[in-house]
Amino acid sequence: MKHFTSVKDIGNIKQALERAKYVKENPFADQDLGRNKTLLMIFFNSSLRTRLSTQKAALNLGMNVIVLDINQGAWKLETERGVIMDGDKPEHILEAIPVMGSYCDTIGVRAFAQFESKEDDYNEVIINQFIRYSGKPVFSMEAATLHPLQSYADLITIEEFKKTERPKVVLTWAPHPRALPQAVPNSFAEWMNATDYEFVITHPEGYELDDKFVGNAIVEYDKEKAYKDADFIYAKNWSAYRDPNYGKILSTDRAWTVDAQKMALTNNAHFMHCLPVRRNMIVTDDVIESAQSIVIQEAANRVVSAQSVIKELLKGI
Ligand code: CP
Repeated sequence: MKHFTSVKDIGNIKQALERAKYVKENPFADQDLGRNKTLLMIFFNSSLRTRLSTQKAALNLGMNVIVLDINQGAWKLETERGVIMDGDKPEHILEAIPVMGSYCDTIGVRAFAQFESKEDDYNEVIINQFIRYSGKPVFSMEAATLHPLQSYADLITIEEFKKTERPKVVLTWAPHPRALPQAVPNSFAEWMNATDYEFVITHPEGYELDDKFVGNAIVEYDKEKAYKDADFIYAKNWSAYRDPNYGKILSTDRAWTVDAQKMALTNNAHFMHCLPVRRNMIVTDDVIESAQSIVIQEAANRVVSAQSVIKELLKGI
């Protein structure tokens, strides 16, 4: 594996799941692979799970880890070429990236959608600059449009908890007070479309995702119909994708909050969310605290997905 930014980089999905199973059962088996190698983790945005799970994954592989929060202690970076740099940004990303690349063997980058330009967000300008200018294998720790380490962990979790070969998995929009990117639902859809699961997306009208990520999913606007007989309910908020509303909140309707009444329509479904989650906006206390909630197991599998990916990147160095 050269870089990891989407499901397309993982190869055969069944083999990716087998590799993850091996990593989970043998977390310290590959320490020689990472010895004297350094992972640099670059955060343009906040994180709890990605920060901790990716560090843990690298430590399991015997690596050294450096973490840089761009907005806390680093120079502010200019990202546009051609700008006269007479403002508050003293360093250009085109120097900063190769310098960062010179200090490490692989780089993880977190850079969310900025909602200033849909074109820049959907062209993944930041992470693609790291790929182009760092000279090192780069992996996404959530980029503008995709969060593949999360989706890989989601898939591993579904495989661990599924009771039928081809479960019904439902991605449901849920309300949130702030405008959030489409990265998690886009990515989840990509990974679910790489399986043979029955995959349904439900959301209010106006929250349609990019067709290229929706793929073969069934889009069902009637949420009660979507929940019926589901084996997994995966909740997430996202802002509008389509113009002229890109990045806007169109609804905070709490009829879409995942609650016991809607969960009762399912096939005793497991509840999933990538976290952090706003209780009683996205999901009620009783659902997230129920025996069917697997959010903690899902988060724990972030170590497994990160370790599986970093291991493949190290093998390619
Ligand atoms: N799910 C996830 O990526 O969590 P963090 O934003 O805390 O890293």
